[in-house]
Order: sequence, then C-alpha cells, then structure tokens
Amino acid sequence: CGIVGYNGLLDAKEILLKGLEKLEYRGYDSAGIGLCTEDGVAVFKEKGRIADLRSIVDEEAAATMGIGHTRWATHGVPNQLNAHPHQSASGRFTLVHNGVLENYHHLQDEYLSGVQLKSDTDTEVLVQLVEKFVEDGMATEEAFCHTLTLVHGSYALALLDAEECDTIYVAKNKSPLLVGVGEGFNVVASDAMAMLQVTDQFIELHDEEVVIVRKDSIVIKKLDGTVVERAPYTAELDMSDIEKGTYPHYMLKEIDEQPGVVRKIVQNYEDEEGNLVIPSDIANALHDADRLYIIAAGTSYHAGLVGKQYFEKMAGIPVEVHISSEFGYNMPLLSEKPFFIFISQSGETADSRQVLVKIKELGHPILTVTNVPGSTLSREADYTLLLHAGPEIAVASTKAYVAQVAVLAIVAYVEAQAKGKALDFDLKAELGIVANNIQTIVDHKEDMEHVAADFLETTRNAFFIGRSIDFYLSLEGALKLKEISYIQAEGFAGGELKHGTIALIEDGTPVFALITQKEVSLNLRGNVKEVTTRGANACIISMEGMEEPGDTIVLPPVHPLLTPLVSVVPLQLISYYASLARGCDVDKPRNLAKSVTVE
Ligand code: G6P
Repeated sequence: CGIVGYNGLLDAKEILLKGLEKLEYRGYDSAGIGLCTEDGVAVFKEKGRIADLRSIVDEEAAATMGIGHTRWATHGVPNQLNAHPHQSASGRFTLVHNGVLENYHHLQDEYLSGVQLKSDTDTEVLVQLVEKFVEDGMATEEAFCHTLTLVHGSYALALLDAEECDTIYVAKNKSPLLVGVGEGFNVVASDAMAMLQVTDQFIELHDEEVVIVRKDSIVIKKLDGTVVERAPYTAELDMSDIEKGTYPHYMLKEIDEQPGVVRKIVQNYEDEEGNLVIPSDIANALHDADRLYIIAAGTSYHAGLVGKQYFEKMAGIPVEVHISSEFGYNMPLLSEKPFFIFISQSGETADSRQVLVKIKELGHPILTVTNVPGSTLSREADYTLLLHAGPEIAVASTKAYVAQVAVLAIVAYVEAQAKGKALDFDLKAELGIVANNIQTIVDHKEDMEHVAADFLETTRNAFFIGRSIDFYLSLEGALKLKEISYIQAEGFAGGELKHGTIALIEDGTPVFALITQKEVSLNLRGNVKEVTTRGANACIISMEGMEEPGDTIVLPPVHPLLTPLVSVVPLQLISYYASLARGCDVDKPRNLAKSVTVE
C-alpha cells in the first residue's frame, strides 16, 4: 500500500490524486482520499485504480489539506468498504495506513467491545482506538501516541482530526514513510516519487517516530515525546525518469533501457584508471567472510541464484541463496564468518527486512544491493551497493534484474582479483559486449512478438527448461510470463521435467528451452527431444556458437558467465507480448504489487 498527505495552500485533492498515481506500484486494488473541508472530513473511496477513484471524487470538494491511500489488500477483501481512509464512529477521525497490525483482534476485544466496526480491516481498530482515548479525555496527539504504544506490527500512518483542520498526525514503524518540505506547505508520502510534483526536499523518518505536520512546521517526536531534529535531503530524481514518455507501457521502456543500465553500472563501479572497484570497506568485509548468504524475494531471488555462480566460480567463496520469507524461521546453520547480501530492487520488501533485523541482532555484517538509495534495507544494512537502474515502475521487474546480475558479477570479480584468482577475462570489456548485444535483441523485438503469437496465444500453461545457469533463467522466464500473462508457467532444470512434470505435456504444450552453456547444450537438446516426442511445441533460444538449424531465437554471443544478462531479454519481451496479446494489464497485473511492504 502507499500513503500520501498534503497540508498547504493549494487544491489538496489534485495533489493527492497525482501522488497516488505515482504510488500505484505499491498496490492498486482500491484507493481513497480524505479531504478536510468546511463541513468536516469528506472521504471518497472506491474499489479499483486511482482512475476509478478520480471519477467519484466531488470536483467541488475544496480543501487545502488531506490524506490518501492506494491499497494492496491484506486484511479484508478489496472492496469499497475496506478501502482507506477509515473513519471513527463519530466521523471525527480519519486514518490511512500501510502495514499490518498483528494484535488488532486483541486490541478490539480489550478496548472496543461496544464499537460496531464497519470494515474487515486491522486499520479501523486504530482509528476507533484514537477516538476512544479522546473520549476518555486525552488530547488527540496523546491519544494517537498512546494507541501506537499498544500496537504490535508495521505501520505508516496519517491521521486527520476534523476538529483540528490544520494538522496531519503521522507515524511510522517498519513501513516506509517520508515527510516532504515546501514553502508554505508540507507533505507526507510512502515514496518521494509521489510528491516530486511539489518538492524535492524530504526528511526520513525512523521507526516509532510521530510527526506533527502543519503547513508551516514539521515536528518529529519519539513515542515518549522527545523532540528529534533532522535535516531534509534532496531527492535526486527527475520527473522524466518516472514518466512513460512515448512508450505504451513502463515495462517496454524499462526493457529498452537495459543496455544503458549496464553501461551506467560500469561507469559507477570503475575508478579513475578505469578498473572495476567496490568501496574498500565492503571489499574488506567480504574478504573476511567464509560463506555468503544471499537473501531475496521474487525476481531478486533469481538474480541471487546467478550471483551464487559468480561468487563460487570466480572468487571461490561458498554461497547459499535463500528466499527471505522462509529464512526467518528456517534459518540454516551459519558458518563461522557469514556475510549477508540482501538483494532488493525496492529496498522495502518486508519479507527481506524481517530477516535483516534478525541478522543485525546476531551481529553479522550485512550488504544491501538495491535500486533505491535511502530505502529501509539500505539504511539498516552496514553497507549498500546501488543498482543505478533508475526508477523501475512496471510491477514485473526487468532492468533491475539485469542490474542486480551485473553488480553481483562486478562484486564477485573484484573479490576474485583480491584473492589473486586467475581470471581469464576482462569483465569491463565483456559487460560492454553485453550492453551492445542486449541492444541488438531489443532492436529485433518483432521476433519475440512472433514467438508470443506462435507459442502463447491460446495456451493455458508453458514450461521453461535450462541446465546450469540457464536453469535459473528458466525460473525467471516462467515467473515473468505467469505474473503478467496469467499463463501457468513453470521453470525446471532440464533433467528434472521427466521426473514427473512431463506428464503434463500434451500436443502443442509450449516448452521454452534455453541453451547458452556449451558443456550442457547436448543434454538440453536431449531434453527437448523428450518433450517434442510427446507433442510439445519447443521454442529453442540458443546462443550463437551452439545453435542448430531450426532454433527459434539465436542470441548474440557473450561470455559464458554473463549469458543471463542477454538471455533474460527475449524472455521479458516474449512475456510482454503475450500479456499484450491476451489483453492483460502489462504494468499492473492483477493481485500483485511492486513493493510488498507486508510479510
Ligand atoms: C514483489 C514484486 C516482484 C519482486 C519482489 C521482490 O513481489 O512483484 O517483481 O521481484 O516483490 O521485490 P524487491 O523490491 O525486494 O526486489
């Protein structure tokens, strides 16, 4: 979910709606705004997208202060009733919330037995509690803080009191939240992107802080009332980075940006002599480790699997890669000197953050590899390496994956050099070839459009197979396809399909086979035979040098370790065109959110 708030002189409604549009990547199943008007707080909320909300907002509603929310449902189905803002019984208090309250049932039983709740959300309990404590005699700020001391869980909150139409009460714990500073106005946002329209000055908030936001003042306090001073920083984001421009979809724009992303990473990780480097404190900490633990979710997890190959093959360091949501309660036995690498495009994924908190408590060194400077996972780690991919807006991750793989390659290469390993290639030069070859692929998009039409137009399912590093790409190819086209897709190690799943192969079942690794290319071709004999429609994506007549796509060659950076691109484009042909919402697939800030 994402939240916004505006307190100033201009029309709040338009600023809030524009802000929410920029936060839709955080959830888009329902949305709402609360406006402080002359007749109290007017709430408009609707199931669906911000465009749906826009259509029901009263154009006449005049307000210079308000709050807004775009939702990714956790508690309560996505409908109008469960959409935020939520209001207290009397309508005096109005609240938006991003996060999950773990003890809301308990709070409801203990304090709100006489109150009839209107929604199925955890959030409504909070706003009813504030009203209860105010009725018991507390001032609003005191009631707000008291409520927060009772709550267990994550929250980014903005609260309006209809009797105090000059103040937004704000609080944060575990969920991201910023306060933006302007001349004669101040704003609140889950992400700076939402409020770049009015300011580029933002103040970071820490956990368990409360902020009193008026149009000409911002007061940050800890829950115990101690005032905290913190200077704003300048958000270095350009509006053009977050616009689609002439592209029909962000996903296509972001796929096309990939050659530039690879080049930019090289520029950012080279020293004055042109050698690839990473900051020396990170290099030293890595050097001391006896085992690396990579923690990530979704596409970032798939990048981590490729990273494991890099660290083990180039630098000779053992690596384990773990899904963050599992790691917390299924922690493996750790080595004596573990070093943790969290990979996260957004730097906000709650599943990864809960692991980071545990590892911090254990005192092990932590590096976050992220696209978002100042994100939660970056702030809380000992070290950060940035992806320099520019904002990624489409829910399906593309350029961030390529950036993650490229940065991991650089880190492994630098560490291998520090260990005196004999490396038979110049990574910087090879990444230059990668950038050029990605360009060649995106220049021939129509090939992938044809593949989508030939293989995926009507199918219900699809399989991806690969061996060695290509296995990890088959996982990513399947994830990309299922998340945006809703075709049930699975990725398998080439040898594994025959151990069960081959039972699903029927006449015409599409099987995408990746062949970029010479030592296993013949084995994989054997697997292709196994499925085509049983009727599968095989799409072979091979690399120049190991192609055979009849292969569907032949990729321009790159170094064998760097093939993921190019082989992922046709997979992204095939998914894109399949999604388009099936009439799906490419950038905002159903049920998903780009940044999942709940566990
Ligand atoms: C969500 C997104 C995925 C993403 C995953 C991890 O589920 O829909 O595309 O890969 O989160 O996100 P992160 O920001 O941690 O890389």
